[in-house]
Amino acid sequence: LLRVQTVASKSNNNASIPAMFVRAETEQPGITTVHGIKLEVPIIDFSNPNEGKVLREIVEASSKWGMFQIVNHEIPSHVISKLQSVGKEFFELPQEEKELYAKPLSSESIEGYGTKLQKEENGKKGWVDHLFHIIWPPSSINYRFWPKNPPTYREANEEYLKYLHGVVDKVFKSMSIGLGLEEDELKNAAGGDNMIHMLKINYYPPCPCPDLVLGVPPHTDMSHITILVPNEVQGLQASRDGHWYDVKYVPNALVIHIGDQIEIMSNGKYKAVFHRTTVSKEETRISWPVFIEPQPEYEVGPHPKLVNEENPPKYKTKKYKDYAYCKLNKIPQ
Ligand code: SIN
Ligand code: FE2
Repeated sequence: LLRVQTVASKSNNNASIPAMFVRAETEQPGITTVHGIKLEVPIIDFSNPNEGKVLREIVEASSKWGMFQIVNHEIPSHVISKLQSVGKEFFELPQEEKELYAKPLSSESIEGYGTKLQKEENGKKGWVDHLFHIIWPPSSINYRFWPKNPPTYREANEEYLKYLHGVVDKVFKSMSIGLGLEEDELKNAAGGDNMIHMLKINYYPPCPCPDLVLGVPPHTDMSHITILVPNEVQGLQASRDGHWYDVKYVPNALVIHIGDQIEIMSNGKYKAVFHRTTVSKEETRISWPVFIEPQPEYEVGPHPKLVNEENPPKYKTKKYKDYAYCKLNKIPQ
């Protein structure tokens, strides 16, 4: 199986890369990025004692940007550093050891180590390998996909998860009140404590031609929301008025993406953010998104309290697995 990490290690003293990674000019980040400005995505301080202000900032960012960064959240920095170091150590294991966690070809779930195999529309591949595994709820976890090495991998992930719940709750409560609902209503309608928390590690090795490739191509997340920890290497870009901008890396911040399901539940008040990633010439970029999403059989649609005769539903109600199937196969929803 082709792994980008292997291609990258062979490209080391080489100025060229395989053609399958080279984007059309209309997509090349060297050409399509607005250079020289970093997008000032809202930065929200969770330690601000003015809770009303924090709430309004979350609501405004979710409506106007679909993205924000949280600083001074309650996740201790050593917990995040540990999550990062065990993930990095996994990707630095010998290739054969990582392959023990490879997503089985026959499996329906996306869980496991891998490289996006199915070609995108334009036939190009992203410069990234990944590991996916569910971290919540306990009944959905399959430890077969959690690395045994480094030995502290599990503990580090569980520790991060403990704190993550608080962030998820605070974001959902604010979004709920912003819609005119009771504070727990949005989360309950979204699947409550049964919502799947799917961790992904994106591993973007250095690339000799970063201007020609993308890490992850343009997309909105399918989840309700995504909570992401990046390392310090710049790479996340968001689309604004049809142009691509770097999103400023903020040390110790959590990046929040509003995903498709919250756009749907809010009947369009909150917007899923269109984003992509670039890669670096010298450094390895790694990111740890956790997708907060419904169980596959769970039905998602505009919240019943938000639709009426004047505000008809703008989206269909369907099972999450059916939404996912259409999105992955590019079938209109
Ligand atoms: C993604 O949105 O899929 C990846 C984002 C990132 O690596 O920052
Ligand atoms: Fe994404």
